[in-house]
Amino acid sequence: MELKIFKNIDEASLFAAEKVAAVVKKRPDAVLGLATGSSPIKMYAYLIDWYKRGLLDFSRVRSINLDEYIGLDGDHAQSYRYFMDEYLFKHINIDPQNTFLPNGVAPDLEDECNRYDMLWDTLGGTDIQVLGIGPNGHIGFNEPGQILRVGTHIEHLTANTMNANSRFFESVDEVPSRAITMGMGEIMRSKEVIVLAFGKVKAPVISAFANDDVTTAIPVTLIKLHPNATLIVDEEAASEL
Ligand code: GLP
Repeated sequence: MELKIFKNIDEASLFAAEKVAAVVKKRPDAVLGLATGSSPIKMYAYLIDWYKRGLLDFSRVRSINLDEYIGLDGDHAQSYRYFMDEYLFKHINIDPQNTFLPNGVAPDLEDECNRYDMLWDTLGGTDIQVLGIGPNGHIGFNEPGQILRVGTHIEHLTANTMNANSRFFESVDEVPSRAITMGMGEIMRSKEVIVLAFGKVKAPVISAFANDDVTTAIPVTLIKLHPNATLIVDEEAASEL
């Protein structure tokens, strides 16, 4: 795994956006594995800017996101569908029919997980997977624990994650306690992975990259095993390395 440390979020996001753009230029119908959270927002802004300047074309691109809260439909301002529309999809020429997220209000959630696994396979997997990191080391919503799951599944969110994500809700009571997330198998089978982590709050979890260990207690450490992964951090996130 390659580690790239940048002075600030802007420079790091530019580097990350260049990686995604390179994939789209090489394969116009690329499958992008996308993430929500604050970490990729600036990277998405670069991609939007390049599209608007005629440098990038998303007309044939497909995208599949990592996760979605259970109980929130796409109109809810905190749903990940809403996030993706706001921060990327509605600003570029991607076909909305080619943008996929789990359905957090599906009548049968187990069926929805199976459907999502099959969808990932039908798309042929992801050419690049973008990841942020939860302060506890989760990726997607694969939470720390004794085991990690391979396929798409329902995850019960930890108190740590609900607290961290409550900043987007009126109160912690409104944060859904469950989510549908891609499993570690899909993340690890992506042809390329980029992990974004910025700010002091991520420094403790990034310190896990100072050694050679992997542990299910810090799910993002499994990315050390991926053959084509880049960890992209700013100086603050790297401050405990
Ligand atoms: C949520 C998402 C993760 C994301 C994490 C970090 O929990 N499920 O995919 O990586 O938030 O968010 P941020 O980038 O805002 O720190």
